Amino acid sequence: MNLILDKISKCFGDKIVLDDISLELTPGVYGILGANGSGKTTLMRILATVMNPSSGHISFNGQDINDMEHRYRELIGYLPQQVGLYKSFTAEKFLSYIAYLKGLTKAETQDKVTEVLDLVGLSEQRKEKVGKYSGGMKRRIGIAQALLNDPKLLIVDEPTAGLDPKERIRLRNLLSRISSHRIVLLSTHIVSDIEYIAKEVLILKEGQLIQKDTPQRLLNEIEGKVWTVQVSEGEILELQSKYKVVNIALVREKYELRILSDTRPHIHAISEVPHLEDLYLYHFDEGASQDAAVKV
Ligand SMILES: Nc1ncnc2c1ncn2[C@@H]1O[C@H](COP(=O)(O)OP(=O)(O)OP(=O)(O)O)[C@@H](O)[C@H]1O
Ligand SMILES: [Mg+2]
Repeated sequence: MNLILDKISKCFGDKIVLDDISLELTPGVYGILGANGSGKTTLMRILATVMNPSSGHISFNGQDINDMEHRYRELIGYLPQQVGLYKSFTAEKFLSYIAYLKGLTKAETQDKVTEVLDLVGLSEQRKEKVGKYSGGMKRRIGIAQALLNDPKLLIVDEPTAGLDPKERIRLRNLLSRISSHRIVLLSTHIVSDIEYIAKEVLILKEGQLIQKDTPQRLLNEIEGKVWTVQVSEGEILELQSKYKVVNIALVREKYELRILSDTRPHIHAISEVPHLEDLYLYHFDEGASQDAAVKV
């Protein structure tokens, strides 16, 4: 099973929002990383057929998705960035309604609703109104509705935004678990959401696909370029003006700076094991060094 994007571009007026994106997706989790406005939602909306590309083609198992029409739409599950829930519906009723819209029969609906509620861990809350759910539960019911038609391609746009760490971990484990026989496309700003579960990471920057690789191979790229050094307050500004400083932490009355640099930035700098977050900041460094969080 594969989904191929061939030279996908999208313009709004004369603004290019997606620029010549070509890639192949096979079963597994793909994490799309990118700053605000980099085109993640636009790409996902195009794949979900909510929007057409300005140019380029998409094919599923060799067939153009435009020719497949409803047969393609039946293969996809989509959780938009802003999801509207019917707040006065119970979870069970909400899912049954969506199943009806997706064309499932009554008999199929009952089994499927039970199955997806179980999958997302909401079986016990099936009689509760979704309007009363917590943020994490709302995201899970959103994923449950996207799974009702057993999609081969699951598109989830920032499902972890605003969730606490425990719910984020729960959600990423869920996505990982269901990705063995489907393509899961997940967008996020939070690198740790995908560091462990993504088969490949796609980095979008201003509409261009600037990276597509396994997390490990992406990390190899910045191997030897991540450093930490403890300095006094007076040295911070100078280092910030010369290097990408991605974090500043106060450690025993000294400042520990995490720096990205091809060469040793300071005689006392120690080489560190790179994390995916370093890579993200390597590409999206605008203002990062000025804004580097001071963790006390
Ligand atoms: N319907 C539209 N009309 C005009 N411009 C649009 C439209 N939809 C998106 N854009 C623009 O396209 C660019 C990419 O937007 P998109 O929503 O795809 O980014 P994103 O990566 O999902 O951002 P975020 O992280 O904030 O969700 C932005 O500059 C946005 O203003
Ligand atoms: Mg978006």
